[in-house]
Formats: sequence, C-alpha cells, structure tokens
Amino acid sequence: MSEGERAARLLAWYDRHGRALPWRTPPGGDRRPEPYGVWLSEIMLQQTTVVTVGPYFRAFLARWPSVHELAAATLDEVLQAWAGLGYYARARNLHKCAQVVAGEFGGVFPDTEAGLRALPGIGRYTAAAVAAIAFGRPATVVDGNVERVMARLFAVGEPLPAAKSRLYDLAAALTPKQVGGRAGDYAQAVMDLGASLCTPRRPQCLLCPWQGDCLAHRRGEAESLPKRAAKRARPTRKGVAYWLVRADGAVLLRRRPEKGLLGGMIEVPSSVWHDGDPEADIDSLSGAPAVADWQRLPGMVRHTFTHFHLELVVMAAGLPAGGVADGAWVLPERFGGQALPSVMRKVAGHALAHV
Ligand code: ADE
Repeated sequence: MSEGERAARLLAWYDRHGRALPWRTPPGGDRRPEPYGVWLSEIMLQQTTVVTVGPYFRAFLARWPSVHELAAATLDEVLQAWAGLGYYARARNLHKCAQVVAGEFGGVFPDTEAGLRALPGIGRYTAAAVAAIAFGRPATVVDGNVERVMARLFAVGEPLPAAKSRLYDLAAALTPKQVGGRAGDYAQAVMDLGASLCTPRRPQCLLCPWQGDCLAHRRGEAESLPKRAAKRARPTRKGVAYWLVRADGAVLLRRRPEKGLLGGMIEVPSSVWHDGDPEADIDSLSGAPAVADWQRLPGMVRHTFTHFHLELVVMAAGLPAGGVADGAWVLPERFGGQALPSVMRKVAGHALAHV
C-alpha cells in the first residue's frame, strides 16, 4: 500500500468509526478544535481512560472556559477540581502552563511542537498531539495504542518498554507529511484504531483498514504482540491514618508537602507509609496529629498506586477538650470542596461508616 492509500483508508475508517469524544470536532469536518481544549484533554488523558476523563473535561471547561480563567484560578481550586484523576503533578503543571500561556503569550498557545514542548508539563506526546490536532502539523503522536498498532504492523518482537524508541521511529516513518489538512485526524485515527480494533486481546483484524499491510496479522501473531518484559510485582506499603473529630463534627485535614506523591493535595493525617509491619506504628501512634483516646476501626483501606499497593489502618478519636492539632477542621459534608485524592476519599468513607 502506498503512503497516500494507507492514510486514505485509515481516514475513511475514522470518518465512519472514530469515537465521538467531548473534545473532538466531528470527524471529517473542516473545523479544528480550540488549542485550549485539546491541550486540556490531552493532559487529562495521560494515564487515564477516555471514560474517566469525560466529566472532568466538561467540568473544567464549564468553570474555566479559556486559558485566562484557568490561569486566574488558585492552585488549590485546580487541585480540588482535579481530585480523583490521579497523578497530581499534572494538575500543578497544568496550572503553571496556563499561567505561562496567559501571562507570557497573551493566551495564545505556540503552534509548533518545539514551542509547545517548552511549556510546563508538555512532553513529547502532548506537544505532538496538540500540534497535530489543534494546528494541523504532521507530528508523530505515540501513545500506548499507537505502540501496539506499530508493533503489529511491523511484527516487532522486541518487548516493551525496550521497544519504545523503535516503535516511535516506525510511527514517525509512517506519519504522512501531507494529508490534506487532516494531520490531527490522522493522529487520532491511529489512536482510535488501537483503542477500538487493534485491542490488546481479540483484535478485530477483519475490520481493520490496515489489515493488508499488517505483518503480524499475516503471520497470525497479532494477538501475541507487543510483548512485554515481566513486570516487577508491586510491593505493599502500610500505614496508619488518623481520623480526628472535633466536638462540632469537623474532621482534621492537612495539606501534603508540595513535592512527592500526592504533592499539595489534602489528606487525613497519616503515618509514613512503609513496607514493614504496621503494628509497631499502631502501638506507638506514629504520626498521630494529637494526643487523644485513639481507637482502631475494624478493617482497613486498600488503594493501588502505580508503583505500590497501600493498606491503611484507620484510627479514630475525638479531640479532647482544650486539645490542639495542626491542620484545617472541615465538616465531612464539605469534603467535596477539598483537594482530597481518591485514597483519602476512601479513608473518609471507611471512617464515616465505622465511627
Ligand atoms: N488518547 C489520548 N488522546 C487521544 C485522542 N485525541 N484521540 C484518541 N485517543 C486518545
């Protein structure tokens, strides 16, 4: 298949079967989406599924319709609206990036990959995606879906992640320089192909517009590619969370340090999370925010992060008369307005169900 034919087949498939997503203009239309919405959606979509992102994307656009409004928000407002999406460094960089674009570029996003990459939080993937989708640049956009499509098309047997740069180079060689102004559609079509037909299990090769070119399909290997290096097992860390309730029902919350996991987010105070036995921390009340009559709640809270599982025992107490503790006192019905990450929402749910 020639380059032109390959792109034409893919785009014809995309026009009929591309996903209708909230940040897209209709496939085949001549209107490009606003750079602000493209950037916002692509940052949200890193490490997060399309289904999860939808409501967050709509909520952000409704509250901050342009990069100027987002730049004028406080970091805490942005973190609060981001709560539940995970990978909170993205939200901090999103806010920083909005301030640079609004403050230094008059609200206009750079229209080249190099210009975009110079902004906070924008790496190779996001720069390419925004350049292609918002500005029609023939940039090579490679996410996990595209890696899979390339691994199969060229029957790359080298396992991921080692094969990443090779798969990128193959995708780059395949990216057409001219697609009649449809560079953004081409980029999104390859991603959609991976998301909807060229899926990890049971790929639907018979429906694929690139079937005739696909080496893995010809060899009957599509489903077994790409190969992956064995993952290291996730360790389980343990800790103790302290649910301290004041006489008026308000609960002690505090902000985590800016750097590190869940940086700048709000938490129920907890001990250091580590791999060892948690009983010693429970006995010594390690990290407890106040002297109080701490009682262990039944069960525990489990949460999985990228690199480890976490098990938190929850201890609960009332703040003794005259007692003090560092942090903010918040009524549980106001928790929705806090930048509480998912693990801390679980802790709150567990405590409220047991105290
Ligand atoms: N994954 C991340 N961004 C995407 C997009 N714009 N289209 C399809 N899949 C995506």
